[in-house]
Amino acid sequence: MNKIIYLDAAASALKPESVISAQVDFLRNNYANAGRGICGRAAAVDAAVAAARARVADFINADSEQIVFTSGATDGLNRVVRMIRALPEFATHTPVVAVSDLDHHSARMPWAASDADVVVCELNSEYNYDIAKMPDADVFVITAMSNVLGMPVDVSALVSAIRKKNSNAIIVVDAAQYVVHAPIDAKKWDADFICFSGHKIGADTGVGILYVKNPGRFLPDKFGGGMVERITGARSWTLNSAPERFEAGTLPLTQIIGLVPAIDYWQSHRPDLNLIKYLYDRLSENPRIKIISSRDATLLTFYIDGMHILDFGAYVGARGLCMRVGNMCAGWLHNLIGLTGTARISVGPWNNIDDMQHASDIIMDVVK
Ligand SMILES: Cc1ncc(COP(=O)(O)O)c(C=O)c1O
Repeated sequence: MNKIIYLDAAASALKPESVISAQVDFLRNNYANAGRGICGRAAAVDAAVAAARARVADFINADSEQIVFTSGATDGLNRVVRMIRALPEFATHTPVVAVSDLDHHSARMPWAASDADVVVCELNSEYNYDIAKMPDADVFVITAMSNVLGMPVDVSALVSAIRKKNSNAIIVVDAAQYVVHAPIDAKKWDADFICFSGHKIGADTGVGILYVKNPGRFLPDKFGGGMVERITGARSWTLNSAPERFEAGTLPLTQIIGLVPAIDYWQSHRPDLNLIKYLYDRLSENPRIKIISSRDATLLTFYIDGMHILDFGAYVGARGLCMRVGNMCAGWLHNLIGLTGTARISVGPWNNIDDMQHASDIIMDVVK
């Protein structure tokens, strides 16, 4: 059997032991629902959820009431559409929403599938936002790091340029990849919404973060248990304050418990990007391997001249390399570049130089 080398951190991170043991301990010894009970165990779960929220707030330099737990980046990015669309200013005026070809399907499709008018931001020759050419729009969707190109966007500069032209603009940041590699400073970014998933930074699947800069400005987009303070009539109620008013239904408690050790671990074990540089240099030696990401990127994206990318994925996969091949849920960027699919290698804290040497030997052998 070939040794498995997991090179798909950008799709989902492997889990640190501390996350696994925290979740198992919760499930085995401390499990109860949150926000519903008054027994000691339920109160302890409430306290753990509050502590996790405070830890996330600290992680991205925000306040606890600005942190809403979702089921992932996709969930947050969809919910934001409904929250913005329900604003009184858009009751008579359909919002114009600026998106870009850097967007993951999860960031752009929710708007493209809505009744919004969508405009596409121009990218410069390096496939980055052209700050000077940002369109006029009511809402901007900013991808802080493309999952294909792996380069960080200067979110603060972009947000401040947008706000200079239109102080009422609502700015949504997809930070699903950015959060893996660099600290987020929500106060400095000054965006209205920031979305990311826990599973890309070592937490479990099923939990995500939606940062809301002004929670009081928006109405809940979901209704149910846990978000109502009092029912006052057949169709009337008073809502809990933020963030609970945005969290109808039982939260993904086990995953929230694992989020704290995941953040603790991830902050001190970010992926070593020298591994990407090593691979970039090795694979550059083969003229059939066409690298489209930069040497400074957080990941390596390429295609093979004369070989279908799915064939390549199957050959290297059979020899133990786990990597992403296809359109990476970034169909618009692939269309822009003129490719139907690419291969992507991304590293996590568990990868080392031996993995890279082994991976490049296998790739070179497959692409002779
Ligand atoms: C840039 C980007 N945005 C959004 C997502 C969606 O994240 P999730 O599938 O965890 O909701 C991903 C996942 O790969 C991503 O890379």
